[in-house]
Amino acid sequence: MVKVEVIDGVYWVGAIDWNIRDFHGYSTKRGTTYNAYLIHDEKTALVDTVKYDFSNELIGRISEIAPLGKIDYVIINHVEMDHSSSLLKIAKKAENATILATQRGKEGLFKHYGEALAVKTVKTGDELKLGKRTLRFIEAPMLHWPDSMFTYVVEDGILLPNDAFGQHLASSQRFDDEVNEEILMDEATKYYANILMPFGSLIIRKIQELKQMGLSLNVIAPSHGVIWRSNPSRIVEAYLKWSRGIHKDKVVIVYDTMWGSTDKIARKIAQGIMKHEIAVKFYKLRASDLTEIVAEILDAKAVIVGSPTLNNTMLPSVSAFLTYITGLKPKGKLWAFFGSYGWAGGAIKKMTKIVKEAGFEAHDSALELQYVPTKEELEKCFSFGEEIAEKIKR
Ligand code: FEO
Repeated sequence: MVKVEVIDGVYWVGAIDWNIRDFHGYSTKRGTTYNAYLIHDEKTALVDTVKYDFSNELIGRISEIAPLGKIDYVIINHVEMDHSSSLLKIAKKAENATILATQRGKEGLFKHYGEALAVKTVKTGDELKLGKRTLRFIEAPMLHWPDSMFTYVVEDGILLPNDAFGQHLASSQRFDDEVNEEILMDEATKYYANILMPFGSLIIRKIQELKQMGLSLNVIAPSHGVIWRSNPSRIVEAYLKWSRGIHKDKVVIVYDTMWGSTDKIARKIAQGIMKHEIAVKFYKLRASDLTEIVAEILDAKAVIVGSPTLNNTMLPSVSAFLTYITGLKPKGKLWAFFGSYGWAGGAIKKMTKIVKEAGFEAHDSALELQYVPTKEELEKCFSFGEEIAEKIKR
């Protein structure tokens, strides 16, 4: 295997998962990578492992640089199995290695792999001297699990933040300046929206903490996707922007339909919004990718959700969408609802209740029409779109 050097003595030893298309529900149309790093100095440290299916690839890459028996430390930044499930196999071969993790990481490792594992705990500020290089540990609880930790290579200014700043992007290239910028930022946005969005306040605090520590961030090497080496501050600034909830004049319409009435309403609402030069993104749920919808919602000012009434409630696809999006807690958006019904409504009431219980702002009126909308009713839909557009412009 070809050695991949991040810089002299620091290697990428991860694996490329070209074919994954469903990462626990997140649609990964461009695949992903599991990034692990080897710091080879007087002492050798492996930071993170890879998903078990790729453990032989990890072992092969490490062996190009040093025999596994020479690994002194295995640092587990995060217990989730895409990064830790090769640990037992590695520990067997790297029999002299000390395993390091946070206290919560140790507890998590025990629950996953048994208490026979010898794990030493580290906390923020602890340092590990490898020779010319020093590793510093920074706990990062809830970014995005309680056990999460960043490892920082002090002398080179390399941050290994595990899942933070990642992208699900499989590529033969390892660095940001080698891939298409638009695709890279598209995947980074999707990743933030679907994984880190609930933790915006913690992200802001963690970035402030890194700044207060005076750390130079010359390279940010996450556990998924490519490594940020060309102006890495741009992904840090993007995280700050997303976490603060900066919004565009944009409305996302998300709906599903049975016989086309809710679709007709949705289209007319979109026309009313567009008349006011507000961008519209338009998704019929059963024809769309939920992961991409969430990425579009990230910087939208309003989300308008539509469903016909089926058995006194919304369609299952709409219910699944609301379950997912309320868990992700997008900040500062206006939510509005529309739909059609046959003989009794119910969908609007239930959808509104879900978002209100999640603490979201619901528009004070909704649009619920019987059977197929008439010409006059479609005019009302257009006006409803205009009403939302005017409200978000204010
Ligand atoms: Fe990439 Fe939280 O695992």
